[in-house]
Amino acid sequence: MMEEQISKIAKQAKEEIINSKDANSLNEVRIKYLGKKGEITSILRGMGSLTPEQRPVIGEMINKVRDEIETAIKNAEKEIKNRELINNLSKEKIDVTMPAKKQELGSIHPITKVIDEVKEIFIGLGYRIAEGPEVEFAEYNFDKLNTPKGHPARDIQDTMYITDDILLRSQTSTMQARVMENQKPPIKIICPGTVYRADSVDATHSPIFHQIEGLVVDKKITMADLKGTLEAFTKTYLGEDTKIRFRPHHFPFTEPSAEVDVSCFVCKGKGCNVCKGEGWIEILGCGMVHPNVFKFCKINPKEYTGFAFGFGVERIAMAKYGINDMRLLYENDIRFLKQF
Ligand code: DAH
Repeated sequence: MMEEQISKIAKQAKEEIINSKDANSLNEVRIKYLGKKGEITSILRGMGSLTPEQRPVIGEMINKVRDEIETAIKNAEKEIKNRELINNLSKEKIDVTMPAKKQELGSIHPITKVIDEVKEIFIGLGYRIAEGPEVEFAEYNFDKLNTPKGHPARDIQDTMYITDDILLRSQTSTMQARVMENQKPPIKIICPGTVYRADSVDATHSPIFHQIEGLVVDKKITMADLKGTLEAFTKTYLGEDTKIRFRPHHFPFTEPSAEVDVSCFVCKGKGCNVCKGEGWIEILGCGMVHPNVFKFCKINPKEYTGFAFGFGVERIAMAKYGINDMRLLYENDIRFLKQF
């Protein structure tokens, strides 16, 4: 009787183990037969009511069946794991013929590139880099640069004011006054930075653009030093065969003042669309520091002289890379930017 019941349980358990499709149902089978209230366990518990003759026989049988069930469960477990692994592997298959996701690499913006290259050249000539505020007192943007109230450059048509006395600097020349106030000559600096003007956007204008200012102050600095410096810079930056020419001009903070043209480095002076047929490209304003500027900054103009120059970074970038519309520099179109 008992033997029959045990073999029935064994048979049934083995069948259920084979039919278990996953770890959960297998665990249910384990609980059903081997758990605390399981069928095998309850038979073992009931051994006490057996006769002394029956006890060892049934005992041996039930232990054997329990071992068999345990082994069967272990095997089934292995099989289920294997099946899951194979299943997962086939799901995770990689199609190596699929096109890869492209990693877009950024590049240095042409404005930054020009600033870095110009800095490098002037650092090589012994200059230091000076940086200053973009939100500036009108005093530094104008008064200390010999541009008193009433001068047309101070008009709200040209300059972006925040209050009557505070503005967005319209030129990096502000740094002339800031450096000279804080430092005794000899002074040799360049100042790259962002400047602001009340211009509307078109192919050659932007209300926000960049300039690089240069200032040298020492004893016996002459116009020859200015010319030599600009020649050294333009030859290094634009090519050994670049020529420069000075045209008289007016700036309030330099006297004499000049505008400087370089021979077109695209057509070498023959005339092309970069230089608009002129053979020359205007690149900067410059001059000898006005004695009034020295006075405003408490430097004695009888003891010291100096030169200053300033140019637009966009203008140089456009000429150097043949860019015909300034707006391209600000649109951040990656197809444009990655060409530099
Ligand atoms: N700041 C002038 C401008 O924005 C450019 C300039 C002219 C700078 C003459 C100078 C200079 O240092 O000497 O138009």
